[in-house]
Amino acid sequence: MDSSLPILSLAAGAVAATAAVAPKVKARIDLSRAKHRSLTGHSRMSRRVARLIPFYEFDIDDFFRSDGAPGEIATKRQDSFFALAALYRERFAKGREMTAEAAEHISDLQFTRAYRVPFQYSRLVRENLGVGAFVQSSSGVNVTDIDGNVFYDLTGSYGVNIFGNDFYKDCIETGEKRAHALGPVLGSYHPVVAENVRRLCEISGLDEVSFHMSGTEAVMQAVRLARYHTGRTHLVRFAGAYHGWWGDVQPGVGNPVSPHETYTLAEMSERTLHVLRTRRDIACVLVNPLQALHPNSNAPGDSSLVDSSRSAHFDRAAYSEWLKKLREVCDQRGIVLIFDEVFVGFRLAPGGAQEYFGVKADMVTYGKSLAGGLPIGVVCGRKELMRRFRDERPADICFARGTFNSHPYVMTAMDEFLSRLASPNFRSVYNGLDDIWNGRARELNEMLGAADLPVRVDNLSSIWTVGYTTPSRYNWMLQYYLRAEGIALSWVGTGRLIFSLNYNDADFAEVAKRFVSAAAKMKQDGWWWPAPGLTNKAIRRQILKEMLASKFGR
Ligand SMILES: Cc1ncc(COP(=O)(O)O)c(C=O)c1O
Repeated sequence: MDSSLPILSLAAGAVAATAAVAPKVKARIDLSRAKHRSLTGHSRMSRRVARLIPFYEFDIDDFFRSDGAPGEIATKRQDSFFALAALYRERFAKGREMTAEAAEHISDLQFTRAYRVPFQYSRLVRENLGVGAFVQSSSGVNVTDIDGNVFYDLTGSYGVNIFGNDFYKDCIETGEKRAHALGPVLGSYHPVVAENVRRLCEISGLDEVSFHMSGTEAVMQAVRLARYHTGRTHLVRFAGAYHGWWGDVQPGVGNPVSPHETYTLAEMSERTLHVLRTRRDIACVLVNPLQALHPNSNAPGDSSLVDSSRSAHFDRAAYSEWLKKLREVCDQRGIVLIFDEVFVGFRLAPGGAQEYFGVKADMVTYGKSLAGGLPIGVVCGRKELMRRFRDERPADICFARGTFNSHPYVMTAMDEFLSRLASPNFRSVYNGLDDIWNGRARELNEMLGAADLPVRVDNLSSIWTVGYTTPSRYNWMLQYYLRAEGIALSWVGTGRLIFSLNYNDADFAEVAKRFVSAAAKMKQDGWWWPAPGLTNKAIRRQILKEMLASKFGR
């Protein structure tokens, strides 16, 4: 008997098995290579790392010299901190008291109060620079808090406020009158729905529409439909991109469980295109065009402003090119390309990001501003993708309903919004929009430069973010100086400033003046003391040391 035969067949078997497994291994490696190398690109890892971060905080001594500042600078900071605290106590007395009481029972408020600054500083800041959550009125570009303080509104109402609060008041008031005869009758449609659908199809260039109550729901439905029609399981989202708080689009920190059918890949990456070209399990690619301002980075909140490495830069041509490449690969592979325009839709151009970047999507989600200030989420899509049932298999449906979808009051307010948008007179608001906002950003940067302040802004049209040019652990203090100057910011602080388009040159000049004044005071108070040789890397190393010391008690 030839004893080499079994060995030969074993070897042949091993080769065959390797050949069968090799493509899978390669696909797996390609997938890993297409992840962004930062933690935002590694959802599971980021959650693991987040769990390892121990809580510690600075006591009153270390709080003011965590960058190793000498005593005289620390004292200057401390004095200015408590002077600011006294001003806050006096100026925001009623709002602070009401907020402290309300926070006992409003979970969201507890969260936003805790996450305004890096956690090491949070308690002392919360106790002394607490911000009131209650406002009583709005007018023009201003909001007034319950203590009667008037602020320039840079919160943008999470992006809803594109045309100014008065515009939305008008849409809601007129819409309410038109809906009144029907009232809150749900299930059947107010006649205005037909007109809204017609306009949305025209704006999106797509065939069908479905109405939901939030952007999160709209994204859920778009992805569900893409899975249903392609018969594939996975969605691709890009590192750092926000698409609402549904688990499948939020696989990293913030979601206690891992979705198994989400790939988080690097944006503007050839390796990502390769994955899209080669895998067979991808149903859709979700794009949030807001990421064009900071591809692959999370939304920039001040609670993660531990050093000065936050950066942003918008390159319209490069992002348009990227979207074109995505469009091509999605066409080749039958992948559904979804633009999530919940944030940027109607802000950049009347036809949204599709028009602004010159690329068509298969489905588009809208929200925020679209219902004239009332809650909304909308999916627009190609006919064959929007269908929720199959003629040939009647029990195989893609279910989506919602009690409040197509609510008459929302629909009439939406019609008010869309009919204003359709008027050529109104549309002139978009003329030269980027030139205006780029010019204003340039102007503010020049003022900051001339005053020798280590602060600069970057922008995607009227959406701005603040960056810091020299390494510091205290950049997050700027939000408190800005509020003291009468500038209202959302809870993410200087991470995102959102202007409404009714800011005229005089309003902007006033904001710019106050902004520079806030930064100048902060500099004068020693917060940007230039620690010799300090780098962002050294700051991060120092933080790691602090964490280890806190964890291991050294
Ligand atoms: C791009 C994008 N998609 C989805 C959402 C979720 O919308 P909503 O908060 O209405 O659920 C947001 C909210 O900020 C968003 O910016």
